[in-house]
Amino acid sequence: MNFAAILAGGHGTRMGATDKPKQFQLLGERPIVIHTLEKFVLMPEFERVLLLCPVEWVEAAKDLVATHLPASEKVVVISGGSTRSGTIQNAIAWIEENYTTDANTVLLTHDSVRPFVTYRIIKDNLAALESHDACDTVIPASDTIVVSAQGKEIDSIPLRGEMYQGQTPQSFKLQALKEVYSELSSDEEAQLTDACKAFVLRGRPVALVEGEPFNIKITYPVDLRIAHALLGQYE
Ligand code: CTP
Repeated sequence: MNFAAILAGGHGTRMGATDKPKQFQLLGERPIVIHTLEKFVLMPEFERVLLLCPVEWVEAAKDLVATHLPASEKVVVISGGSTRSGTIQNAIAWIEENYTTDANTVLLTHDSVRPFVTYRIIKDNLAALESHDACDTVIPASDTIVVSAQGKEIDSIPLRGEMYQGQTPQSFKLQALKEVYSELSSDEEAQLTDACKAFVLRGRPVALVEGEPFNIKITYPVDLRIAHALLGQYE
């Protein structure tokens, strides 16, 4: 059984001061998160699509889903955690409370603020889990990556051909993900900004799935302007 978790528990501080987190801002006529959710709601592969929001936004998010996605019985709106990992762990907890999971239960996680994800990417994520416990969506790095631990001088410049930029979805066998989370020290957990890294830290393989350059994450105000330009072309 497959579950999708749309991660919308953040507050979008890099987007600057607004009255609402970026995932609830409008992209065209609908909130960003609705564009994202729609992709998953329409896919029969998913038993449930969980939308995880800041606790104070749960009721408003339920209203938005009812307004914009009327055939939305599949969507479950619950509160996220204070960190991205905490939000994913809330998704795992909800699934375990409401379903019996087994070794083949899949949890696909996706940033609510990547509305241009494609069906091809989602399907490739599900296919990758036929041979792996975890997969990450990436694109080859287009800029040269420069490493500098202190941010003052260059430490090294890795080969660009070996560098990729991480996107989402990131997908997991749910039980394997739970296992790697439970093995993390509190230090490792505090530093964890990326669920795939939990597997990497434990030396467990993570498959790569090809993303798309237009599968952008809306992080800064300029990204919202780019997203408006992409709307209609890549939706
Ligand atoms: N996210 C989440 N729960 C958190 C933090 C982030 O579900 N506690 C989600 C965000 O809502 C977003 C995705 O993770 O969809 C990617 O994170 P990012 O772009 O960093 O979002 P924010 O944390 O909202 O942004 P910022 O770092 O600028 O505050």
